[in-house]
Amino acid sequence: MAREFRLRPAPGSTTSKVGGHDGVSLDRRSFMKYSFNTAGGLIATASLGSIGFASLLMGQDSAGGGDAGVRYWVPKGQEDTVWYGDLHLQEMTKSSLVAQAATSATGMSGAQGVWNGLPVNIVYLPHEENKTKPPLEGVPRIQYGGGTNAAGSYIGHGEEVLQDPLLSPHDNILLIFSRCPHLCCIPGWQLVANDFTADTWLPGGVDSGGNKLFCICHSSRYDPTMLEMNENRNRANGSTFKYFGIRLTGGPAPVGMPLIPFKMNGDIIEGLPDYMDWYTFCD
Ligand code: FES
Repeated sequence: MAREFRLRPAPGSTTSKVGGHDGVSLDRRSFMKYSFNTAGGLIATASLGSIGFASLLMGQDSAGGGDAGVRYWVPKGQEDTVWYGDLHLQEMTKSSLVAQAATSATGMSGAQGVWNGLPVNIVYLPHEENKTKPPLEGVPRIQYGGGTNAAGSYIGHGEEVLQDPLLSPHDNILLIFSRCPHLCCIPGWQLVANDFTADTWLPGGVDSGGNKLFCICHSSRYDPTMLEMNENRNRANGSTFKYFGIRLTGGPAPVGMPLIPFKMNGDIIEGLPDYMDWYTFCD
């Protein structure tokens, strides 16, 4: 029987239309087509080189994580500089993130990836170990803040994410849809060296540098450890939607980037397609 992906409207939505589709489920073919179209924008916008996106989207071995598995993406020219340089298109594992985090000053690690044709960033942080400690520099944990839309109006609090079993933080991992809400470039994890990508961490979701996701196009910064409610617009139909995402701390982007729900399949990280309408703010 064909697998159906279960979709959900964004929190507070009054419509059952999800990602431009009526109803609440989508078969695999439609999901792949949707992802592939989005990936086409990725190639054109970010000049990541040609990739066999179709091979990512089709025919993967379910024993190896299935088509839900998140894979490392090594940006062209970064093969010798990123820690996952020899893992291009291999499935992301929690153990690899943990091993890399052990080499950092903050106990954090991160990487760029691809999931069903969508660009993603993954961040590991020792939240479970640190969540009861005082909020100090260099002691990272997941934080929750009040969210506003691009006009500055309050729209909800990030702590509400704890009510969602799919999105509630777990396994010390955050999976983030990596399209910059400014002009749709792909922010990265420590892909450039500057104050905003140094291996440091400060509490409060502030824009004072350290372990941000940094968009090299026009210098927007995002704190992946600060979760809040955001709002954005479906580029195709103009409708607005709310979503849980990471905080924009600085730069020209209007809002933060969405979380992607995931589950662990053993050591492999698998994305869940429940909030596809959150990824529609870029073509
Ligand atoms: S596209 Fe990211 S800051 Fe402009």
